[in-house]
Amino acid sequence: MRVVIHPDAERVARAIARLVGQRLQAQPSSVLALPTGRTAIPFYRALVERHQAGRAPFRRVSTFNLDEFLGVGPRDAGSYASYMREHLFAHVDLQEGRRHLLNGLAADPEREAARFERALARAGGLDVAVLGIGGNGHIGFNEPARGLTARTHVVRLDASSRRANAYLFAGRLSRVPSRALTMGVGTILGARTVVLMATGAGKRAIVRRALLGPVTTDVPASLLQAHPDVIVMVDRAAGVDLTRSRRADVMIERART
Ligand code: GLP
Repeated sequence: MRVVIHPDAERVARAIARLVGQRLQAQPSSVLALPTGRTAIPFYRALVERHQAGRAPFRRVSTFNLDEFLGVGPRDAGSYASYMREHLFAHVDLQEGRRHLLNGLAADPEREAARFERALARAGGLDVAVLGIGGNGHIGFNEPARGLTARTHVVRLDASSRRANAYLFAGRLSRVPSRALTMGVGTILGARTVVLMATGAGKRAIVRRALLGPVTTDVPASLLQAHPDVIVMVDRAAGVDLTRSRRADVMIERART
């Protein structure tokens, strides 16, 4: 695992946009897993800028979003589908048929999960999974549990995850769905490359546990330690505890700019 500590959140966003843009230039038909969340907003802004500068071609790319709330439609302002339109899809030449989102209004969510997995398999699997991390260590919406599910499935959201997402529902916790569909940890770990982003002091403790603590389903992001190609991009506030690591398998670098 390679960890890069950047001076601030904006530099994290730009570094990940550069990495993704370069992958798209090298392999224009790349298949991406994409996150939502506040941390990813500056990343999408930087990626759109790169796209506009001709350095992140989306014409042949396929994307698969990590998760979606159940009971929320793609036109609902709180949905991750709306988030993606606002922050990425409206600004790049990604073809509509290649934007894969889980449908939160599916009559049979488990069938929807299976459909999503089939579409991902048809696309050839994930080349790059870009992830955020929840304050409780979730990736996608794989919440801490005694056991985790490998493939896309329905989850019950933790109270802390519902609180963290209330901003999408005008701050009204009662409106945040209690269940979601999420890519499973097996699907995420199947990506050839995983990029994890975390910024801000609020992520400091969970970043330390996820990267330096034991691999445990209590911290789903810790499973990434078992993946052969993970790049973690953090700002100083989130990464301050990592610098004292003596772990040989965790290579810490400070970004030059
Ligand atoms: C959200 C999403 C996750 C995201 C995480 C981080 O709830 N379901 O996919 O990575 O939580 O969110 P934030 O960046 O807002 O802290």
